[in-house]
Amino acid sequence: MQELKKKIKELKVEKNALILAHYYQNDDIQEIADFVGDSYYLSKMAKECSQQTIVFCGVKFMAESAKILSPGKTVLLPNIESGCTMAEMINGEDVRQLKKEHPKAKVVCYINSTAEVKAESDICCTSSNALKIINNINRDEIIFIPDKNLGEYINEKAHVKNMILWNGFCRVHEFVSPQEIMEVKNADSKVKILVHPECNREIRKLADFIGSTGEIIDFASADSGEKYMIVTEEGVLYDLKNKNPNKKFITPKSPMTCCSMKRNTLKDVYSSLLYNQHEIIIDEEIRLAAHKCLNAMHEMAR
Ligand code: 13P
Ligand code: SF4
Repeated sequence: MQELKKKIKELKVEKNALILAHYYQNDDIQEIADFVGDSYYLSKMAKECSQQTIVFCGVKFMAESAKILSPGKTVLLPNIESGCTMAEMINGEDVRQLKKEHPKAKVVCYINSTAEVKAESDICCTSSNALKIINNINRDEIIFIPDKNLGEYINEKAHVKNMILWNGFCRVHEFVSPQEIMEVKNADSKVKILVHPECNREIRKLADFIGSTGEIIDFASADSGEKYMIVTEEGVLYDLKNKNPNKKFITPKSPMTCCSMKRNTLKDVYSSLLYNQHEIIIDEEIRLAAHKCLNAMHEMAR
């Protein structure tokens, strides 16, 4: 394992490549990455980095977003099977149909969406900037795709006159048991419940803090508490524990594991660098339209 890590580091330098990893990646991948972050941070890094090659350890929509923003760079996804099931819950034709039904609505798409869906949307958002984005556009009528939970959560704060939600969701976050969280809360009132906005309303109602993966880590690190229940994918524990060795983190009993994220292995990262695989290629017409949508987010979220 140590040998493989060493080889990856050497090859990375030789190829002038940057390794980006999402917080849900396996611990060993987070360890060798140049930068680890939430989806907004990583798309910003991909846009701003000087390296010619980006190895994106995450899921396909993240690597696609990097390619959309930096078409001149080679963007590699170590395991091509790493797709986000939520992103697959809507396609370009579905968005075109929604726009026909609501011709005056602005289309806001969560970054967890395909390039084709972004190309049909007006502006993108991530869980860390969605409220800012919605508050900065006309709030008469908004089509929010594909995550119904994030859309509903944002609308509890932004009060859009007519918010049209798509029935998309994340299987990792959707099926958390509220009883289990209640049991933890009842057993120890000092435990703080930190929840990702992809969770449904019942779970969000029990939260002490709601935020993106990066925001959950920042909150727990800055907070004066001692014990936290982390209600998002378990990969965040790596960074949480490293940054907070004296705090205690507990997770729901049934593990919150994103199998797609975990498909990338160290071996895949090595092969990715060695053989330039798997390169993300996007049709230029789709890329240009998707670029407008992603870039609008970067401009507004600054
Ligand atoms: P973050 O933007 O919080 O990193 O979320 C990405 C994601 O896929 C959550 O399931
Ligand atoms: Fe997609 Fe859910 Fe995995 Fe995030 S945790 S990448 S939303 S399937």
